[in-house]
Amino acid sequence: MKVLFLRGNPRPAGYTQRLADLFLRGLREAGATVTDVNLCSQNILPCLGCYHCWLVAPGQCVHPDAMDGLLEQVLDADVLVCATPIYYFSMSSSMKMFFERTFPLAKQGLVPSGRGLTRNSIRFPERWRGKKIITLITGALRDLEVYRPANETFQLIADNLDLELGGQLTRPEAYLLDYPLSKPKTLKRIETAFVQAGKEAGTTGRLSAKTMEEASLPLSPSTEHFRTYSNLYWTQAMTMGADGQVPALVQARVGSDVRILMREMARYLNPRAAARLRAVLQFDFPDEKLNFRLTIDRGQCTLEETTTERPDLRVSCQAGVWAQIFMRQLDVREALKDRRLTLEGDKSLFTRLDRLFPPPSA
Ligand SMILES: Cc1cc2nc3c(=O)[nH]c(=O)nc-3n(C[C@H](O)[C@H](O)[C@H](O)COP(=O)(O)O)c2cc1C
Repeated sequence: MKVLFLRGNPRPAGYTQRLADLFLRGLREAGATVTDVNLCSQNILPCLGCYHCWLVAPGQCVHPDAMDGLLEQVLDADVLVCATPIYYFSMSSSMKMFFERTFPLAKQGLVPSGRGLTRNSIRFPERWRGKKIITLITGALRDLEVYRPANETFQLIADNLDLELGGQLTRPEAYLLDYPLSKPKTLKRIETAFVQAGKEAGTTGRLSAKTMEEASLPLSPSTEHFRTYSNLYWTQAMTMGADGQVPALVQARVGSDVRILMREMARYLNPRAAARLRAVLQFDFPDEKLNFRLTIDRGQCTLEETTTERPDLRVSCQAGVWAQIFMRQLDVREALKDRRLTLEGDKSLFTRLDRLFPPPSA
């Protein structure tokens, strides 16, 4: 299988690159012959809309640039793979510019398309026969709805160039791929899906429904959780100067922020350990001016950002101290001994916290 692998991500070490590399690994394992093209580093000028390629020199663009060679590679390939980040609900501008510049491959003469729409004729129809296109999109946002316009644009491009759409990979919440609290098992399934997609593309040119579904698995448990995480991400990144541009460094900070950790605690209450327990736990972090109430009611746990007059147990400490305790990086007895942590109320409850709240990603 001859594959033309088109990358439209301006960031050389971002999430699109990483996921596209996994896909590429799968392609190579399947024995495909791959031409790997970074569109952002090519000299590709914008289409002028002059119709020179139809009227003056049929099939020839007025710009003498990298597209000359790329159009020949399009004709030569069995499968086109297009990897792009989502920018303003669409593909990146370098990817879009590339498709605009495929105009010399089309020509006048409207015909019905595969979807029953109307498309232009294409030059060299025998060289398009059986050709497929596969897309890979990454984005920051969580809702799959956000990716629909970009995926539909690719579907229409496929229809217009008489290409078979072999499959579409969509990866929302891309930043959570570096998040220390993302579930390792889910991360593994996502990575495996991208390699598997490459293997499928390299053998049949088509992706299975299961592979596409696995590639889009949600990483955050809810929209509310995602928003909290995302807002903290940018709050932290803003304070980090140049380091704020390195997602993994920002993620490490976000992953130890008590606003996230308290949500993780509420989410991962051990229902068996709490089966017969009814209690209100108050956590106060005076350094961050943050107060949380955890209400446990027979296996269920709810979290509120508020204070409580008379909880069953009150835990007070600096936010960072609790983060270390919760992540099992600091021994709680040590923290109590040197009064980095203080307790009020039913201290027997405190001894049960270890069982009630297992560490995240355990
Ligand atoms: C100009 C610009 C526009 C963006 N628009 C969207 C968008 O519409 N939807 C979305 O989910 N993410 C959007 N993002 C976020 C990127 O898609 C996201 O960070 C992606 O992971 C970037 O890919 P990269 O890591 O390969 O650079 C935008 C980012 C930039 C810089």
